[in-house]
Amino acid sequence: MRIAVVGGGPGGLYFSILMRWVVPDAEITVFERNRAQDAFGFGVVFSDETLTVFEHADPLSYREITAGFTRWSDIDIHHRGLRTRSGGHGFSALGRRELLGILQRRATSLGVEIRFQAEAPSLEELAGFDLVVGADGAASAVRAARAAEFQPSLDTRDCRYMWMGTDLVYDAFKFFIKETADGVYQAHAYPYDGQMSTFIVEMGEETWRASGLEHTSSGALAPGVSDEASVEFCRELFADALEGHALVANNSKWLRFVTVRNARWHSGNVVLLGDAAHTAHFSIGSGTKLAMEDAVALAWSFKTRGVDDVGRVLAEYEAERRPVVESTQRAAQASLEWFEGVGRYVAQDRLQFAFNLLTRSRRVTYDNLRLRDPAFVSDVDESFASAVGFFSDRPPMFAPLQLRGLSLPNRVVVSPMDMYSASEGTPSDFHLVHLGSRSLGGAGLVYSEMICVSASGRITPGCAGMYRPEHVGAWRRIVSFAHRYAGCAMAAQLGHSGRKGSTKLMWEGIDEPLEEGGWPVIAPSPIPYSANNQVPREMTRADMDQVVAEFVWSAMGALEAGFDLLEVHCAHGYLLSSFLSPLTNQRFDEYGGSLEARARFPLEVFDACREVWPPEKPMSVRISATDWVSGGFSPDDAVAFARMLRDHGCDIVDVSSGQVSPEEEPAFGRSFQTPFADRIRNEVGLPTIAVGAIASYDDVNTIVLAGRADMCALARPHLYDPHWTLHAAAEQEYAGDGVAWVPQYQAGSRKPPSGRADDVRKELARSFEPDTPEMLVMPEGWS
Ligand SMILES: Cc1cc2nc3c(=O)[nH]c(=O)nc-3n(C[C@H](O)[C@H](O)[C@H](O)COP(=O)(O)OP(=O)(O)OC[C@H]3O[C@@H](n4cnc5c(N)ncnc54)[C@H](O)[C@@H]3O)c2cc1C
Ligand SMILES: Cc1cc2nc3c(=O)[nH]c(=O)nc-3n(C[C@H](O)[C@H](O)[C@H](O)COP(=O)(O)O)c2cc1C
Repeated sequence: MRIAVVGGGPGGLYFSILMRWVVPDAEITVFERNRAQDAFGFGVVFSDETLTVFEHADPLSYREITAGFTRWSDIDIHHRGLRTRSGGHGFSALGRRELLGILQRRATSLGVEIRFQAEAPSLEELAGFDLVVGADGAASAVRAARAAEFQPSLDTRDCRYMWMGTDLVYDAFKFFIKETADGVYQAHAYPYDGQMSTFIVEMGEETWRASGLEHTSSGALAPGVSDEASVEFCRELFADALEGHALVANNSKWLRFVTVRNARWHSGNVVLLGDAAHTAHFSIGSGTKLAMEDAVALAWSFKTRGVDDVGRVLAEYEAERRPVVESTQRAAQASLEWFEGVGRYVAQDRLQFAFNLLTRSRRVTYDNLRLRDPAFVSDVDESFASAVGFFSDRPPMFAPLQLRGLSLPNRVVVSPMDMYSASEGTPSDFHLVHLGSRSLGGAGLVYSEMICVSASGRITPGCAGMYRPEHVGAWRRIVSFAHRYAGCAMAAQLGHSGRKGSTKLMWEGIDEPLEEGGWPVIAPSPIPYSANNQVPREMTRADMDQVVAEFVWSAMGALEAGFDLLEVHCAHGYLLSSFLSPLTNQRFDEYGGSLEARARFPLEVFDACREVWPPEKPMSVRISATDWVSGGFSPDDAVAFARMLRDHGCDIVDVSSGQVSPEEEPAFGRSFQTPFADRIRNEVGLPTIAVGAIASYDDVNTIVLAGRADMCALARPHLYDPHWTLHAAAEQEYAGDGVAWVPQYQAGSRKPPSGRADDVRKELARSFEPDTPEMLVMPEGWS
């Protein structure tokens, strides 16, 4: 078998080593344009978890690599003149030059031919090879040559960074955060051998320009030549971090990080590997690891499948690696965006800032950090507790929250969920049982489903409303139950379906138009939701007056029914949301055009509700922070709209996303909408509710403690488990303030037994001991 490897970086070299084991008689040629000793950059870092796979793949190179390692386990965050240390992280590093040297020697000793200073031949010229591996880095020429098949997407970010080194050997992974009048700068630094540390300086585009660095003309510098003026700037800026040591350049210039993704990684006998296929921001230190793991997977695929069907081997390699890589890329993206927005966090308290930084990729969480460094997490807990004003014995999710006159015992919210089970808008027994059981589940705040403000403002015939006198009484029955038996707060979400109305029940076909019994729908512009849906009538001023009056009537009904918080639904493509989005609002009057104009009607509705909603009761607004469509409502718009909401007296923004256009392409993933809540909270200073794929109490603790949101709303988890919050408390062995089992359920309040017969017996015996007086108190109304 003849194999051409384009690129002698860690990925290409490691693959060539492993393939000599898999196919000992393979003829392998590596084309590398640099000289053997040219390693641009300084150290590369691996986490402990990475290394096992390399130990099994090629023990000899593993031994050499690990023998050269510098290891450490602390991360230090230097911020506003103070250092915060967190331990238990377990990293290893070595110089890129050393790593390449080891891999080059190993490959050569196994008979791989490495052609240095050799620009790779074109794919046509490599036609005689059975396999061509594009391991030629982020700017891959192999990828470009087959762009039609690979369909690359290159996302060039705004931040500028420069890779340098220092002869100061740090004793930890260091983050230095510097604030100047021009903006926020950061340095990521870590030791990689007995003499040197890597030192990467990064800043946002605006800061880079404001500090005059664009004029040091990185772009015009020849390959191999460093931007000395910028290096000098960094020396001065980070003089205290460098402690008098040298800051060394090596082909160092300002770069912009490019996130590389490809729809396919293989085409015929050509395959991409490492940075050519995918990149992950350096702040999570995974690029080299991913490239080497790709090499292992590709070689392994040949080992298990043989060499006869190269296409099949390559498909299997891609199928195995893609999910792992995409998950790492999601973490890297979160980390990259965190550093891009670091300016919004610098005013946080020292410990909260550190916790926020450490949990930025969403892979490290509250529980995870507690395992690594319990003392650090206790300190963060304590500092958060004293800021909020409670004793630090509680997990953060059980911290109280005050919104105007409403005292919430904890940070968990049952998210609004339409049950499509009302009759002519009247909530039924189903609603009483559904919301009643969730109210008993321990969450501090339970939302109604979207309560429609008129019959024609319903989404489906099964949607609940607040537009007839009997609706008020039916809602009062539910709210009274929750107040009386559960003691939780109840929120009413008021909405109008707009162009998404007159559709079928969720289980009969979501967003599909009714075949009979439908009604005409209205919207800011006559644009249907999809080709199947009705064309809505463009609203006149009289329609707007009518809708405002309906919202006001419903708000008064919600007050009468006893709700504690009122939410105006401006999300998910319903009427008010469709005013906000430029995709759905194409009006030429004062209600269309700029964001201010598009926000005018939603704000009129908000103001009218605020006027009748008592000043001591809080109001929220649910928004779709992005349409997930290019040219649609964007996260920047969401921040600007939140500023308007703050100025109009909104107390908390409930931050969802999407469902505005069927063209949307959401980036789903763990707590994927939380970054939007984070931006609003930390840029606008308005409390937020995060929602969407928040699945565990660990996520809730992490989000609240890092200051990404004030509350977390969970929808589907509450369908799975109505007592989600009570169970979260039991799992955390917490039974103090902020969460209470109703007396009727106290007997079940302990963590479930292990299932072993003995434990079950003991647990049951204990649960029947009347150890709390409340157990004996019958609820009101019982005889
Ligand atoms: C500032 C910074 C810090 C980083 N820190 C870390 C870290 O701490 N840990 C980590 O794991 N990763 C880190 N990385 C990422 C890491 O450098 C890359 O992800 C990794 O090197 C990818 O390996 P690769 O083999 O795919 O590509 P590369 O290392 O980029 O190797 C590609 C090779 O192909 C050669 N080449 C390209 N085109 C041709 C051609 N036409 N002909 C011949 N040769 C060609 C290049 O000269 C190069 O040697 C960092 C990256 C940056 C920019
Ligand atoms: C059955 C169901 C009904 C929903 N109805 C509403 C609703 O009436 N109003 C609303 O704003 N969101 C509604 N949502 C969205 C949820 O409130 C929530 O934002 C979404 O499900 C993401 O949260 P999760 O990942 O915790 O489920 C509904 C979700 C589900 C699953």
